[in-house]
Amino acid sequence: QHPGWPAHLGPVRVAAGQVTLRPVRLRDASAWARIRVRDRYHLEPWEPTGRGEWEARNHPSNWPSLWSSLKAEARRGAMIPLVIEVNGTFSGQLTVGNIVRGALRSAWIGYWVAKDVGGQGVATAALALGLDHCFGPVGLHRVEATVRPENLPSQAVLRNVGFREEGMLRRYLDVDGAWRDHLLVAMTVEDLSGTVVDRLIRAGRATPS
Ligand code: ACO
Repeated sequence: QHPGWPAHLGPVRVAAGQVTLRPVRLRDASAWARIRVRDRYHLEPWEPTGRGEWEARNHPSNWPSLWSSLKAEARRGAMIPLVIEVNGTFSGQLTVGNIVRGALRSAWIGYWVAKDVGGQGVATAALALGLDHCFGPVGLHRVEATVRPENLPSQAVLRNVGFREEGMLRRYLDVDGAWRDHLLVAMTVEDLSGTVVDRLIRAGRATPS
């Protein structure tokens, strides 16, 4: 096992309810597929281009192979694939990827949240829990994220947990069918004073549970 895997994080309380994070499970197939098919137009503009139609790619029968590749990456210490739960219900995913150790000790972080619990602090709380985990048990020095300039809600989430903007990556990622510019944001241990969750609580964005 690698430091920080498997992980059960939280709870943190926000307007939507109690936010917790836990490892992806094989039995997440139906909840994952139901939300992703229902929320296609909420998710698709921001996600890496995939092969085939959205409905087919997000069919419950695709989850077992996705789940097993996420678990394999987690087992070799390269990824932390978590489900975001609100009041114990599957409500999205938060993934830490490309974990590199040695002199870099860095990773990226990404997330999506179901539309019906949107705008109630869920992504902000999940990201704060994920970052505290990365800088704590996982032992990273730097976490970065990339976001399309058009994705204002996600930029607000990143800003609210304390990410700094580092620059614009031109035609960086194949997203929603084309090479898209992305803003690069990052945080290092030196940017923190206390935990990210504590900072959210002090800012009145969350309450401890
Ligand atoms: N313009 C500017 N800000 C906005 C807008 C808008 N149109 N709409 C919402 N916001 C702000 C909200 O006011 C809030 O900020 P505030 O707390 O300062 O008021 C913030 O965006 C949303 O915060 P949360 O409620 O914590 O976020 P939520 O749980 O709704 O999740 C998310 C946000 C993850 C972007 C969700 O909408 C989603 O899953 N979108 C589709 C997938 C996606 O974009 N994922 C992120 C890709 S980038 C990455 O992973 C690094």
